[in-house]
Amino acid sequence: MEEHLSVGRVAELAGVTVRTLHHYDEIGLLRPTARSGAGHRAYAAVDVERLREVLAYRRLGFGLREIADLVDDPATDAVAHLRRLRGLLADQRDRAAAMVTAIDRELDARARGIRTTPEEQLRMLYDTIGSAYPATRRTEPRIAAQIWAALGDARTVLNVGAGTGSYEPLDRDVTAVEPSAVMRAQRPPDAAPCVAAAAGSLPFENQSFDAAMAVSTVHHWPDPLAGLREMRRVARRVVVLTHEADASRFWLTRDYLPEFAQLLVNWPSLADLTGAIGGRAEPVLIPWDCADGFFEAYWRRPEAYLDTSVRRAASVWTIVGPEAEQRAVDALREDLASGRWAERNRDVAALDAAELGLRLLVA
Ligand SMILES: C[S@@+](CC[C@H](N)C(=O)[O-])C[C@H]1O[C@@H](n2cnc3c(N)ncnc32)[C@H](O)[C@@H]1O
Repeated sequence: MEEHLSVGRVAELAGVTVRTLHHYDEIGLLRPTARSGAGHRAYAAVDVERLREVLAYRRLGFGLREIADLVDDPATDAVAHLRRLRGLLADQRDRAAAMVTAIDRELDARARGIRTTPEEQLRMLYDTIGSAYPATRRTEPRIAAQIWAALGDARTVLNVGAGTGSYEPLDRDVTAVEPSAVMRAQRPPDAAPCVAAAAGSLPFENQSFDAAMAVSTVHHWPDPLAGLREMRRVARRVVVLTHEADASRFWLTRDYLPEFAQLLVNWPSLADLTGAIGGRAEPVLIPWDCADGFFEAYWRRPEAYLDTSVRRAASVWTIVGPEAEQRAVDALREDLASGRWAERNRDVAALDAAELGLRLLVA
């Protein structure tokens, strides 16, 4: 007869609490296949194998619902799970190694009193914060539709500052450009090929693409206008999602993070941005439930800004520094608790989409 383990023994061996196992049972994630004579949970080898998979996915940061879908997938057997887990862990190891290298490089430069160029600093910024990116940053379908419509009938598309590949159209021939190794390492295995380069000097011949696109990246470029001119040089059509300089539209920067205005001091005017590509600008509304967790995305979900993982995926918070971040978050927390935020932002609750200065430049 097959040997069964008690819930206490399984908890001890797996290093989890009995309460966790009871919870997994209650939500249907891990139901022991048997009961003892006295009606207690009894775990068979197959249950222990499933628990090992659940815990491995958990340690990789998956949510319980996602794990349930993964372990219940009839097309995935134990070997396939082990292969997938191995791949995910190897990715995580590579990302951590890239971050350690980037931090070592910066520590070394600082120790030798070397000032890094803005280009290097920004590459290091994404090498350092990039691993937090996939937690909340993904394609927002309504914004994607606007971008893809602007690409028109372009067949070959260059995506500059491509990051992990959000907004890359699946039905075109895409080439990505991304300077950060950490971001490149997080691109899905089936994403478009990615070249390590920066916008200021694109390693392509004149007019080699039908279109060039850039999404939420131009504000990181040391010389935005030069980068936009490069896009114009290599492509016949240019589509860029960026923002107009204005810190007063958004309650977060207006009331809690005045430091943001400093970041806009050298930001080119909309006329200069459109001028660099010889195009026009159209407003992009941010839906209240925006799927892409960029800085302004949670304008109607203010509690989200109290969440560290939300803030870590938007570079503004890292650029303003920990003091300004802490002060802004503390003040927001207090105003949410006291009702002051709701009082000040009554108009916000009534909106389904907000105009916060996001612009699509099209040429
Ligand atoms: C906020 S992420 C946006 C990524 C992606 N386009 C998206 O929408 O998810 C900004 C990206 O710009 C990249 N970046 C920073 N400086 C750059 C430069 N000079 N040229 C091109 N990309 C740059 C960063 O490494 C990062 O991946």
